[in-house]
Amino acid sequence: MTDLLRTCRTVLPLAVLWLTGCGLGDKTIAEADPELFATPPTYSATIDPILEQSCRPCHGEDSPGGIRMRDYEEVKLHRQAIAEAVRDGSMPPGGAEGLNAVEKELLFRWAENPINKQ
Ligand code: HEC
Repeated sequence: MTDLLRTCRTVLPLAVLWLTGCGLGDKTIAEADPELFATPPTYSATIDPILEQSCRPCHGEDSPGGIRMRDYEEVKLHRQAIAEAVRDGSMPPGGAEGLNAVEKELLFRWAENPINKQ
């Protein structure tokens, strides 16, 4: 077993997440250590880089669909719509770099945590 697989099994006991999320390759967050899941994710360390990679190419200075994600306040404001669009697969749209299962899980945990840690 590779180190990546071992990490994934430790981080994600849910087999479905393991199967769909790990082994997808080069994603830095997928290789992250279990500490990421031990405490609620923070915006600055975890959520911001995900959005930078997958969402801000479009939702940066522009606001398609009325959604702009330049900083914590804007993202927090739209957190429910953001989580919903990622959950139902409509965002990011085809062709754009999507989130792997680990990144999605972190995003949902952050968006659905009432504190939305900064
Ligand atoms: C390639 C450009 C592009 C990328 C990348 C992108 N979006 Fe969008 N997004 C759009 C456009 C265009 C709209 C408005 C039209 C539409 O709804 O399709 C939109 C609309 C939205 C909306 C409004 C509701 C909805 O579903 O229409 C949300 C929420 C959203 N995006 C979230 C995200 C998130 C979260 C990401 C990153 C994971 C993301 N988008 C990445 C182009 C993009």
